[in-house]
Amino acid sequence: MKKWLDLIDQLYHKTDLDRESWLTLIGARRYMADEDRRHLKELAVRRSQATYGKDIYLRGLIEFSNCCKNNCLYCGIRRDNMRIHRYRLSEEEIVRCAKSGWDLGFRTVVLQSGEDQAYTDDEICRIVAAIKAAHPDMAVTLSLGEKDHASYQAYFDAGADRYLLRHETANEVHYGKLHPPELSMRHRMACLYDLKEIGYQIGAGFMVGSPYQTDQCYADDFAFLKKLAPHMIGIGPFIPHHETPFRAFPAGTLEDTLFFISLLRLAFPKALIPATTALGTIHPLGREMGIKAGANVAMPNLSPRGVRKDYLLYDGKICTGDEAAECHRYLERRMEGLGYRVVRARGDYAGWQRGCS
Ligand code: 5AD
Repeated sequence: MKKWLDLIDQLYHKTDLDRESWLTLIGARRYMADEDRRHLKELAVRRSQATYGKDIYLRGLIEFSNCCKNNCLYCGIRRDNMRIHRYRLSEEEIVRCAKSGWDLGFRTVVLQSGEDQAYTDDEICRIVAAIKAAHPDMAVTLSLGEKDHASYQAYFDAGADRYLLRHETANEVHYGKLHPPELSMRHRMACLYDLKEIGYQIGAGFMVGSPYQTDQCYADDFAFLKKLAPHMIGIGPFIPHHETPFRAFPAGTLEDTLFFISLLRLAFPKALIPATTALGTIHPLGREMGIKAGANVAMPNLSPRGVRKDYLLYDGKICTGDEAAECHRYLERRMEGLGYRVVRARGDYAGWQRGCS
C-alpha cells in the first residue's frame, strides 16, 4: 500500500498528522495517480457532507475600496501600482450594495478593502450598524486587514460577525519574501488571535503556488492553522499581476489547489472553505471542482458594476465585465447541476453561537 494512501486515511480518522507525515503527504501531490487524487477528493466531500450536507453557502463580496497603504509583492492593488484607478465607495453606496445583496438572497455580506486609512473606525461601525439594522438576519463579515485590538472590538460591538484575514504564509522566511520589511508575520498572527479572542468567527488562509513557497511552508501553514483553529479557511492559487514584482512568476495550479482544499477539509472537518474566485479564474470550472474537492462556500461579487474592473488583485479575474450581474445566478445553477443546494442562510460555523466560541 502506498504510504500517502495510509496517511490520507489516517487524516480522515484523526484529523491531524505529525510534521514528518504532513511533509510526506504534501510532497506526494507531485506523483499521485489520478485514482488516488479521486480517493482524496471523495473522502473530503464525505467529510464536508457529514457536517454541512449538500448545502452551499453564499457570501456577497463588496470590494468597497482598492486604496491600500501596503506594498505586498504579489498584489495588484499594492501602493506602488500607479497604473490603476483608485476608488472608494461611500457609506451610502456600501449600505445600498448590501441591500441589493439581501434582495438577491444573500444572508452574508463581506466588506473587503485594501488597508485604506480614509475610513475611520466610526465610519466602519456606522456602516456595519446600518446594515445590521436594515437586515438583522444578515451576517456581516469584515476583511479590512490589520488593525489594532480596539478597532476590532469596536467593529464587533457595532455588530460585525466575522473577520477574514489570510495569514498568507506561516513560514517567516517565506513571509519576508512576499512582503515588504515593514510587515511582519508575527503581527498578522497576533491580529488573528485578537479577533478570535474578541469573539469573531475568523478566517485565515494562504495562496497556493506563490513565489518561493516550499513544502515546508505548507507544513507550517497546517501547523499554524491547527493551533489557531479558525472557522473559515480561504485558499486560492497565486496568479501573477502584470504591475507587480512577481509578474513573471507562474500561477499556482488547479490540481495543487484542489489537493490542498481536500487536505484542509480532512484536517478541519467543520471549517467553512470557499471555492474562490482565483480558482474560478485559472479554470472555467475551477469553483465547481473546488466544491467537488471539499469546499462548501462560494463568494460571488456584489460590488457595483463600475468598480469591479478596478479591484484586480491578479490578472484575468473573472466576473468583472458587463456580464457580472448574471455571474452569480449562473454559478448557482451550475452548483445545483452538481447536486448541491445553494441556500439562503447565514452559513455560520457548525454549532456557532455569538458570545460562546
Ligand atoms: N494571486 C492570488 N491571490 C492573491 N491575493 C492577493 N494577491 C493575489 C494574487 N496575485 C489574495 C491574498 C489576499 C486575498 C484578499 O487575495 O491572499 O489575502
